[in-house]
Amino acid sequence: MSKQEVILCEDLESSLKRAIDNCPHDRLFILTDDHTHHLCLSQLAGLSVLKDAVEITIGAEDVHKTLETLASVWQVLSEKGATRHSLLINLGGGMVTDLGGFAAATFKRGIAYINIPTTLLAMVDASVGGKTGINFNGLKNEIGAFAPAASVLIETEFLRTLDAHNFFSGYAEMLKHGLISNTSHWAELLAFDTEKMDYGYLKKLVGHSVQVKEDIVKQDPFEHGIRKALNLGHTVGHAFESLALAENRPVLHGYAVAWGIVCELYLSHLKAGFPKDKMRQTILFIKDNYGAFPFDCKQYDRLYKFMQHDKKNNAGVINFTLLKEIGDISINQTTDKDTIFEMFDFYRECMGM
Ligand code: GLY
Repeated sequence: MSKQEVILCEDLESSLKRAIDNCPHDRLFILTDDHTHHLCLSQLAGLSVLKDAVEITIGAEDVHKTLETLASVWQVLSEKGATRHSLLINLGGGMVTDLGGFAAATFKRGIAYINIPTTLLAMVDASVGGKTGINFNGLKNEIGAFAPAASVLIETEFLRTLDAHNFFSGYAEMLKHGLISNTSHWAELLAFDTEKMDYGYLKKLVGHSVQVKEDIVKQDPFEHGIRKALNLGHTVGHAFESLALAENRPVLHGYAVAWGIVCELYLSHLKAGFPKDKMRQTILFIKDNYGAFPFDCKQYDRLYKFMQHDKKNNAGVINFTLLKEIGDISINQTTDKDTIFEMFDFYRECMGM
């Protein structure tokens, strides 16, 4: 996979100009959704580098991460004369960067693209690392490709208009990066005062967090090994997300990951000796800021089946990423059904259900 440049912007205009100059192109396109067209593109409207850009706007939210929306993007690219040498800028959250990245990866066998993530989740996770795709047949990110953006431009000023739920959704991925990296990053994340919200300090934390992801992706771009560290919290988290969706009570991805981290830290403690005090401190932070996802023991089997059918698992064998310590990662760990049910008991008890 080619190298991806990730920039924590001091000045978005000059970073964008440089990124565009680095991608010689004949035509320029900019993709937004209904929200970012209104909230974010308006902030960039006066930029001379975008004056000839063709705007493409798609519906916001995960329900629009579909083949139909993808086809509508291909359609505009085709009608407006995009060639192999055209450039697409994706301005939005993870849905826009995933779908726009996939549109770029597939149009005329691949055109260059730049991501400008506008949510915390997209800044620290979705827009970095080259995973692109759409949902299909009721399954999340079922169709996609590894195709890195030429540049990812992170402008944390966009976070000032992010609502609290979306802030915490992204922050869960940052917590994950803290847990898989080192104790000092983990501790600074737990200590961050989310009520006072010092945006200058948040920018520093975002920079650390993205660096953790970049370092891992660089070692294993196609997820054959160590990139699976980024799946911490996701084995159970995806099952919570699927159950929530099936029961018509959808939850934001990062919330499901946070609750998944609670479960997988318990397994880490049980099977790999992860220290109890660090497990408790992390769980307390999650309980205080994310509340709990309620379920009872009658739903354990359903959660178990969701885990068995997750695309990250093969032939019904459920794979976990566990920790021996903060930053000490064990990938491809398995356990028996009874232990998984015991993990659900632990979750419900410690989350006060
Ligand atoms: N979101 C996890 C990864 O990019 O591998």
